[in-house]
Amino acid sequence: MQTHRDISKPTLVLGGTGKTGRRIAERLTARGLPVRIGSRSGAPPFDWEDRSTWAPALDGAGAVYLSYYPDLAVPGAVEAAGAFAELAVRSGVPRIVLLSGRGEPEAERAEEAVRATGAKLTILRSTWFMQNFSEDYMLEHVLSGEIRLPAGDVPTPFLDIDDLADIAVAALTDDRHVGRLYELTGPHSLTFADTAAVIAAASGRHVRYVPVTIEEHATELLGHGVAPAVVELLTYLFGEIVDGRNASTTDGVEQALGRAPRDFAGYARTAAAAGAWNAVAATGR
Ligand SMILES: NC(=O)c1ccc[n+]([C@@H]2O[C@H](COP(=O)([O-])OP(=O)(O)OC[C@H]3O[C@@H](n4cnc5c(N)ncnc54)[C@H](OP(=O)(O)O)[C@@H]3O)[C@@H](O)[C@H]2O)c1
Repeated sequence: MQTHRDISKPTLVLGGTGKTGRRIAERLTARGLPVRIGSRSGAPPFDWEDRSTWAPALDGAGAVYLSYYPDLAVPGAVEAAGAFAELAVRSGVPRIVLLSGRGEPEAERAEEAVRATGAKLTILRSTWFMQNFSEDYMLEHVLSGEIRLPAGDVPTPFLDIDDLADIAVAALTDDRHVGRLYELTGPHSLTFADTAAVIAAASGRHVRYVPVTIEEHATELLGHGVAPAVVELLTYLFGEIVDGRNASTTDGVEQALGRAPRDFAGYARTAAAAGAWNAVAATGR
């Protein structure tokens, strides 16, 4: 493997305790490579809301996995991602692997802002994660037995973030990925009705998809105590992005890793075996 960056220096993994970052940190550690978690609970702590934490987190790092929290679509995200990348380049950490979102105008603006810094950049432009059903906002829907979303019957080629983590680690350790933009999807496009059926089969639970309107969705989330900012973000994402523009699959995983992406049935079996859907619904929906 041709490696140009000094892999003895730690990789700063932003969101390193989150869905993608945790997997990347685990893989790097398993290879004996040093990792620095970039989050509020890291040492030193890193907080997107407190710019004084950025330089200490970058100090002495060899590369950065840049995932923004909570989402590149929120106000201020593009500017923050660009400003952080600029500081990274100025601090002598030009190697950046950026997590971006597919078909999202703000995410593409963030890509441009990071690229404009002159970073040695790899972009992972991902469709929606399969793990949203087991580790994020759709978990509660699954546990309640009804995936109630304003997604109609639009298909999405969900990505298994174990694939994303494999690609991020390859990119963080091998300069052959510098300058590449990988548009990442899973191997099949599934409607939410399809995903409910696969999860039901894997978990043994009754799970069905119930399409709702954007307004019903927002009202239900607020009723379940979801923060207004999160409701606004989800309303934006479902209103703007779930229109079929992201329905096609890509060969991004194959391009990056030389193998096929993991599929939804395999994801669901793995998540079920790990107990992801064993809990009782908190909402009693
Ligand atoms: N979900 C999808 O389907 C999807 C698809 C494409 C792209 N994306 C992108 O994925 C990114 C999120 O990545 P993810 O899902 O791997 O992360 P995640 O699980 O949502 O993130 C949680 C991580 O963020 C950290 N964090 C929370 N608040 C923070 C703050 N103020 N400053 C610094 N770190 C903070 C948390 O650690 P602490 O609590 O210790 O701070 C934790 O490590 C977003 O930019 C989104 O646009 C998501």
